Formats: sequence, structure tokens, C-alpha cells
Amino acid sequence: MNDVAASRYSLLLRVVHWGTLLLLIAVYATAELRGLAPDRPARAVVMQWHMAIGLLVFLLVLPRIGARLSRPTPPILPTPGRLVLLAAQATHLLLYAFLIVQPLLGLITAQSGERAVVIPLTGFTLPDLIANNPDLHEWTEEIHVALGKIFYAVIGLHAAAALAHHFYFRDNTLRRMLG
Ligand code: HEM
Ligand code: HEM
Repeated sequence: MNDVAASRYSLLLRVVHWGTLLLLIAVYATAELRGLAPDRPARAVVMQWHMAIGLLVFLLVLPRIGARLSRPTPPILPTPGRLVLLAAQATHLLLYAFLIVQPLLGLITAQSGERAVVIPLTGFTLPDLIANNPDLHEWTEEIHVALGKIFYAVIGLHAAAALAHHFYFRDNTLRRMLG
């Protein structure tokens, strides 16, 4: 591996990282703005996009974890303190957990509430993996919505930390994640 490659995240990780950010913007926009859709059928279509893009986020996190574990993380230079590194690791772990748990909770919420998950533009309906269950629906929905709100803050903190590394500490943290 040459020096430039060793100083950045792998191409797969970089593409999936920024791709996931774009997908999450779409997932949040469809969730938050569905009220603007003119009628019930239009709202249902917006929700189908929410669910399909959310499932794509889940599918992308699997190869991402493989790529993350298969190669050491490029070092940050100059090296930050131990506490900063620990805080970053804890946040990354939380973000990975969110990318796995949130789509699964969404899927359980939808199917336990008898909401069909239809992939837009294909007409393909996901098979029923979970039986109708109003109790399960109620509490998974509550957690799905609450986690969605909480992670605005976690993602915001993560992005702010990246910018602080770049503009205040002036290390290579952000450059390792860019082209
Ligand atoms: C990373 C992926 C996801 C994120 C960040 C996310 C986020 C959210 C948020 C913030 C809301 C609440 C909107 C509101 O305030 O009313 C919501 C609602 C919902 N999401 Fe997701 N979601 C994701 C994936 C999924 C998936 C994969 C599915 C299903 C396959 C799903 C199904 C639902 C459903 C059914 C609701 C509506 C709950 C209700 O009836 O109000 N979500 N989601
Ligand atoms: C504007 C938004 C964002 C910026 C500026 C940003 C920036 C960065 C940077 C610079 C790193 C490398 C940090 C390090 O190695 O210590 C990183 C890593 C990471 N980011 Fe982001 N990020 C953003 C959005 C997101 C979002 C939305 C997620 C997922 C919810 C996310 C998840 C991760 C994870 C899990 C890592 C750990 C490295 C990996 O294994 O992929 N980031 N981010």
C-alpha cells in the first residue's frame, strides 16, 4: 500500500460514508416532510420512499463494517489526546449501531402495523417477516421516532467534531475521509 492510500480511508468506506449521508438526508426529509404531501395516497408514496431508502442504508452498512474491520484506520496526524480518540470511537460505534438498529426498528414498526413495504418503481413488496401485532407496533414506533430525533444531535455532534478537527485543531481527520 502506498503512503497516500495508507493516509486515507479506503475508497469503499469513503464512498459509502458520504453516500450514507445523502441517503440519510432523504430518509429524514421523507419522514419529516410527508405532512406536506397533498393527500393520503401521496403521503403513502412518500413513506414508501422513506422505507426503501432506509433499507438501503441498512444494506450499505454491512459491506461498510467488513471494509472497516479489514484494514487499520489511517492515523490522525498530529495525534489527538487519548480522550478525544476514545470519544470519537464511542461516537462511531453509536453511529454504526444506529445504522443497523434504526432501519430494523422501522421495518418491525411497518410490518407489525400491517403497513406493506413496497419498493418504489418496482412494485416489489417485501414478504411479511413480522405478523401484525399492535403492542409491538406501538413501542417499536415510539423508539424508532425517538431514536430518529436523538440522532439528529449525535450526527450533528459528529459533523461538528469533524469540522473542529479540520479548522481548529488543523489535523488530517477530515482529509482522511475526503477524495
Ligand atoms: C436509517 C434509517 C431510518 C431513519 C433515520 C428513520 C427515521 C424516521 C423518523 C425520524 C421518523 C419519524 C417522523 C415523524 O416525526 O413522524 C420515522 C417514521 C417512520 N419510519 Fe423510519 N427511519 C429509517 C428507516 C426506516 C425503515 C427501513 C422503515 C421501514 C421499512 C421505516 C418505517 C417508518 C415508519 C412506518 C414510520 C412512521 C411511524 C408513524 O406512523 O408515525 N423507517 N422514521
Ligand atoms: C456533514 C456530515 C459528516 C461529516 C463532516 C463527517 C465526517 C467524518 C470524518 C472526518 C470521519 C473520520 C473520523 C475519524 O476517523 O476519526 C468520519 C467517520 C465516520 N462517520 Fe462521518 N461525517 C458526517 C456524517 C456522518 C453520518 C450522517 C454518519 C452516519 C450516521 C456518519 C458515520 C460515520 C462513522 C460510522 C465513521 C467512522 C469511520 C467509518 O468506519 O466509516 N458520518 N466522518
